[in-house]
Amino acid sequence: MTVTVAQQRPMISPQVGQTTGGGLDVESIRRDFPILGRAVRDRRLIYLDNAATTQKPRSVIEAIERFYEEDNANIHRGVHLLSQQATFAYERARGRIATFINAPESSECIFLRGTTEATNLVAHGYCRPRCGPGDEIIITHMEHHSNIVPWQLLCEATGATLRVVPIDDEGVLDLKEYESLLNDKTCLVAVAHASNVLGTVNPIRQMSEFAHRHGAVVFVDGAQGAPHLPVDVQELGCDFYAFSGHKLFGPTGIGVLWGQHALLDDMSPYEGGGSMIQSVTLESSTYADVPTRFEAGTPDISGAIGLSAAVDYLNRFGMEAIAAYEDELLEYAHQRLADVDGIRLIGTAPGKVSVVAFALADAHPHDIGTILDMEGIAVRTGHHCAQPLMSRFGVPAMARASFAFYNTRDEVDALVTGIGKIREVLGG
Ligand code: ALA
Repeated sequence: MTVTVAQQRPMISPQVGQTTGGGLDVESIRRDFPILGRAVRDRRLIYLDNAATTQKPRSVIEAIERFYEEDNANIHRGVHLLSQQATFAYERARGRIATFINAPESSECIFLRGTTEATNLVAHGYCRPRCGPGDEIIITHMEHHSNIVPWQLLCEATGATLRVVPIDDEGVLDLKEYESLLNDKTCLVAVAHASNVLGTVNPIRQMSEFAHRHGAVVFVDGAQGAPHLPVDVQELGCDFYAFSGHKLFGPTGIGVLWGQHALLDDMSPYEGGGSMIQSVTLESSTYADVPTRFEAGTPDISGAIGLSAAVDYLNRFGMEAIAAYEDELLEYAHQRLADVDGIRLIGTAPGKVSVVAFALADAHPHDIGTILDMEGIAVRTGHHCAQPLMSRFGVPAMARASFAFYNTRDEVDALVTGIGKIREVLGG
């Protein structure tokens, strides 16, 4: 089986060893992640579940610790020094994250719990007042449940119709069908930047251009895009882009929705509470400007600071270098895995990110995960919050190895050896 990855991005020639493409010193990077030094079941941890959540560099852990040791106070509501310091750190985090995704204004970046909350905010704040019977929302067959269910709920509530762009056997979107689904009733297109199962990278710029011709806006689920690819929201040409901190080497419980200022400004609040108001009487309230309008209550201050530290850490290397390294590692993983007897690689789109889903002869994915775990190898098994995609490929579940820039070829080799043991144990 031949798989070509990285066709849309420059390839670095494969080298032997662990310090390889993109100019990254991966051995040194690994030392920045304390958890990578631990053992699991008396084996060295081989963490290949990065699409579920990534590990955290020491600088992120220390930034959170420092905040609680030195600056902790509530933000935007105190004249005392600690409150001012905490507010400064929180707003500086917003600015750094805006720069990371090349947002025109930092006020366009809203801190939320993660991609899921961002999707629900857009469904409620943008679509709900604009959608009714006859209107349409377009998603794709490769979406995570978090980019399906909020749109189904919206359609139930408004009478709008959900349309789905099909994919081919490699996991590539059918763009012709996408174009034919678009019409003047299309309110919004919701699409993953990269699939959490297939690794497919979708052509967001082109999809946005098509959608805009019909007056539709484009929401991008960047949960699996931002950790692997340079993100420039202006270059992508979309209207909303969301991502989660914990998949980007930052803490859990924090994420970002970026949106075009004019669209956000025209959106109703999603949650009511303190901070998001301009004035309140017992009869009615008026709301604050963006982004505060969408950050009701005390936000995850330390989470925002931790996420900003994660972005600072990634900026030391640059996302281009990280992507180049991961492309090389993915190419190697696909080559090694393709030679395993009885394996079926699911998701072979050109230019995909470093996520490798597979089925293995008759082995149940949970057995695959359990036996690999005995070798210290963490992979994810199950439906990956993408049941429609499982149906598309005719399986109830899959195993998935997902790589980050701290993973190495040695770890790919260990995965291949571990898969060999599965066949021995299960007698395949
Ligand atoms: N969405 C995460 C995954 O794909 C949890 O594993």
